[in-house]
Amino acid sequence: MIEIEIIPALSDNYIYLLHNKATKHTAVIDPSISQPVIDKLKEKKWELNQIINTHHHNDHTGGNLELMKIWNLELIAPLKEQNRISNVTNYVSHDDEIDIVDISSKVIETPGHTSGHVCYYLSNYDILFSGDTLFRMGCGRVFEGSMEQMKNSLNLLKNLPDQTQVYCGHEYTLSNAKFCVSLEPNNIKIYNEFQEISRLRKNNAKTIPFLLGNEKKLNPFLRFDDQSLKKAIGFEDKNETEIFKYIRNCKDSF
Ligand SMILES: [Fe+2]
Repeated sequence: MIEIEIIPALSDNYIYLLHNKATKHTAVIDPSISQPVIDKLKEKKWELNQIINTHHHNDHTGGNLELMKIWNLELIAPLKEQNRISNVTNYVSHDDEIDIVDISSKVIETPGHTSGHVCYYLSNYDILFSGDTLFRMGCGRVFEGSMEQMKNSLNLLKNLPDQTQVYCGHEYTLSNAKFCVSLEPNNIKIYNEFQEISRLRKNNAKTIPFLLGNEKKLNPFLRFDDQSLKKAIGFEDKNETEIFKYIRNCKDSF
């Protein structure tokens, strides 16, 4: 009933087109630029109905205005970033239920990367658009929120079902995986994942979407409570925020 097109843009961004085959409605998630979106819509013979933004950064919103000149669109964006995104028609907040291409979707506020960042969860389809909060084998940099906020945001996403397919904002997976190996050099599951990701990227294949259940086992930013991770970094008696802060700071200087 739905189809998702993944459009690589700029150096490592992903733009997503979500199309409802029954109603013919189409949404674009985080259009960094407009032209590849216009080209793909033409190729698919789809009309655009909605723009969905996860946060205000230009590499997620830069194509909004050009697309709004062509189509009469709804622009859905976080209320907490209301002065930083132009022409928004529908503001959303935590726990709101909204329709994205006529599919009921839940808004999850995940502050940290930016102060008002939101993710969109389509529970009937086990799909999460995670923007720059959760990446495969990593998470977004903490630019505007506190380390504790970002840790809480990641824990919210961790509560979603294992079968959730995650569509994130960037192809950062290979460098994330290299960092994970350096953090836990004796973790064989992480090393195997690194090898698989290296193979995919050598062939220029996308590593998106990814399964949340796997991330819960591998991604250090979802494993604050994991004894083997705590032991590997020598933080057995520290709390979750201290562990997150340490790992995030290590990644920032990796
Ligand atoms: Fe961002």
